Amino acid sequence: MKFIHITDLHLVPPGELLWGLDPFERFDACLNDIARHHGDAAFCAITGDLTEMGSPQAYVLLRDRLARFPIPAHLMIGNHDDRGNYLAVFGGADRNGYVQSGLLLNGNHFLFLDTLKGEPSSAGLYDTPRKQWLKARLSEAAGKPVFLFMHHPPFDIGHPLMDLIKLEDAQDFENLLKDSDVRHLFFGHAHRTMSGIWNGIPFSAIPGVNHQLPLVRESVPTVYSNEPPMYSVVLVKEGRTVVHSDAFLHRAPADMPLDVERDDWI
Ligand SMILES: [Fe+2]
Repeated sequence: MKFIHITDLHLVPPGELLWGLDPFERFDACLNDIARHHGDAAFCAITGDLTEMGSPQAYVLLRDRLARFPIPAHLMIGNHDDRGNYLAVFGGADRNGYVQSGLLLNGNHFLFLDTLKGEPSSAGLYDTPRKQWLKARLSEAAGKPVFLFMHHPPFDIGHPLMDLIKLEDAQDFENLLKDSDVRHLFFGHAHRTMSGIWNGIPFSAIPGVNHQLPLVRESVPTVYSNEPPMYSVVLVKEGRTVVHSDAFLHRAPADMPLDVERDDWI
């Protein structure tokens, strides 16, 4: 099966720019590219920071776009979102009022978590009611493969700014996962491409759709950077998970004749 990971849209009201870039224009290009090339994907997961300031208008426009998008989308919120404004537009809270949901497909349990702590902190929180929800979902999975999606990474990623605002209660979160078959953890928040293993769990993250965070602070004079946005195409089959990242705005033909090296690869 195939699914898509998108993150950190940072949508602003129409007509406004964010750090010199147009989040809606970029998001539209992202959706169009996915619909054109990956219409067979089972779903898209968007791991939070859907909006820059939690604007109700931005959520309504997001909802309208996703209603026209041919692939089902599963949304999470991040530290830039407003849970109340999100729920007023999308609904779908768990019984404790958090934006958490699960999906069972082909024997795989996909769990979409709410790690929003709330103003004034940009860090993430996974408190007792949310942990109880996750514990129940992991129990239902009963040893079957689990794929986790969340905004905040539950560990240091080695970036001096991001490590200040990761998931706060990471040890408890880690303990929750110990007896489950978590195949992969997808997160956002970092606005960077990264992959690795955390306590035996493979993870990946991708750049946001709008602005990025430079790996080295001094490499650009501003806090954020303009680097290629990407989405991930994830292929899951039996014991294999493959995560491709595609820079949809920065794809162009190579400077080469059209028929060279086309049919002689085997
Ligand atoms: Fe973000």
